[in-house]
Amino acid sequence: MSDRFDVLVIGAGVAGMSVVHSLYEQAPQLRVGMVTLQAPGQAGATPWAQGGVAVAWGDDDSPLLHSQDTLAAGAGLCRREAVDVLTSEGPQRIQELLDLGAHFDTHQDGTLELTREAAHQRRRVVHCGDASGREMARALARALPPGVELIYGQLTRIITQGSRVVGVQLDGSRSLASPQVVLATGGVGQLFAATTNPAGAEGQGLALAFEAGAQLRDLEFVQFHPTALAVQGTGANLPLLTEALRGEGARLIDESGEAFMSQYHQAAELAPRDVVAFALWQHRQRGHQTLLDARALPVAERFGQVHALCVKAGFDPATQPLPVTPAVHYHMGGVEVDLWGRTNVPGLWACGEVSSTGVHGANRLASNSLLEGLVFGHRVGQALAGADFRQATCLPAVPPIELRQDPLAMARVREILWSGLGLARSQQGMEKALAGLDRLRPRLLACGSTAHTVASLMLSSGLFRQESRGAHRRLDYTQTSPHWAGHTLLAPGQAAQLQSLTNKEAVADVVRTSVR
Ligand code: SIN
Repeated sequence: MSDRFDVLVIGAGVAGMSVVHSLYEQAPQLRVGMVTLQAPGQAGATPWAQGGVAVAWGDDDSPLLHSQDTLAAGAGLCRREAVDVLTSEGPQRIQELLDLGAHFDTHQDGTLELTREAAHQRRRVVHCGDASGREMARALARALPPGVELIYGQLTRIITQGSRVVGVQLDGSRSLASPQVVLATGGVGQLFAATTNPAGAEGQGLALAFEAGAQLRDLEFVQFHPTALAVQGTGANLPLLTEALRGEGARLIDESGEAFMSQYHQAAELAPRDVVAFALWQHRQRGHQTLLDARALPVAERFGQVHALCVKAGFDPATQPLPVTPAVHYHMGGVEVDLWGRTNVPGLWACGEVSSTGVHGANRLASNSLLEGLVFGHRVGQALAGADFRQATCLPAVPPIELRQDPLAMARVREILWSGLGLARSQQGMEKALAGLDRLRPRLLACGSTAHTVASLMLSSGLFRQESRGAHRRLDYTQTSPHWAGHTLLAPGQAAQLQSLTNKEAVADVVRTSVR
């Protein structure tokens, strides 16, 4: 077989698999490759997702109510059309998953059991115990069209000719031709010292898209999950204690047993995720411990994955409150795309966490990410079916990249971003982080890592936005300002820009990158 494809999908989580499913419905004759490091069903963050998928499914719910909650959480930066696409097309995508054989929890009468999570005004989270992502990934992977070719490898370059995509480089040396490339490469959590994300979530897709000429948006918005289990010695990874625990009544308490969240927000444990995460940070700064008390819940029966993670770490959720800490969970920013997943680079598409569709704004509503992967992955597949599949006559030669591990340099990057771009940010802290990163730059580039590019772009965006909004909390600009009510845009070769209704002029020369 030649190394020429009609479409290459990079990533095999919910977004990548949704692209393939929907594309094959429309155009089964295409030659489609799926590039992944692990088998579909096990790849990416999807199988790690506990809570479930938010969708307007119940009789008391509607896409409009779901849109209202999504917009409120997004703190003024959601794109209304994208949110409406998400909430109105969501139920159909869930029905298709059910048709594929996904087993979600049901009541005795067979109707879907819906749980509640923070900042949702209705019960609308479809789930499979607390292993919802694993079940979705299983259902999508089991039914992958047999024609899709799995290619095991790591994306190291998006190859362009003129301004359009013509292929990719894998593992630093192998070139594949394809006029259409879809990025579904996930998030950035592994660039931080504490995260709920799996190994490999280092934002490579962002850096490589940027190198290929794509515009990136709102990279400063990083979501911290409030309740990761605070265990030592696990590297960056901390076990997630799903928000659904709080939805079902678990309380956040301190060392004296006092439930403290009502000091910070009237919705207490069910306040938006950015509010709860920041409250935990503040409470810890005041010298308190932060614990999740789930003793009143049937954790072993209803939350089997959480129970197993706790027991493995030496805790019994039935008899003791669990020590929790915020950890990086999700990246709202990403490669800017239209409502069909197209980037500004012809032939380059993006969906899932690596993309910025505009549905999450400054703070993602809980359980909207699996839905985004389903809905926008499906849309990319539909739009791709009508794309231009003419191949470049020959691929341009691109320099090889030597990939090596440098665990110490990566550990340093994680410490730098955690302290500079963590829950509480400041100009001084972000500038110090940029300087620290610059010192690491030669080592990171020498091992083929894109970490310096991604981290610098995120810090540049954070420095540029001189306000607090959603998940971007600054100690030196504590208020949300109408002046900054727009998106931060980063385009190769240009200064950062704010695309805003109120301030079209704001630009700053803060973009420092290290394109290889
Ligand atoms: C969780 O289960 O708390 C995570 C859900 C999400 O991130 O949407």
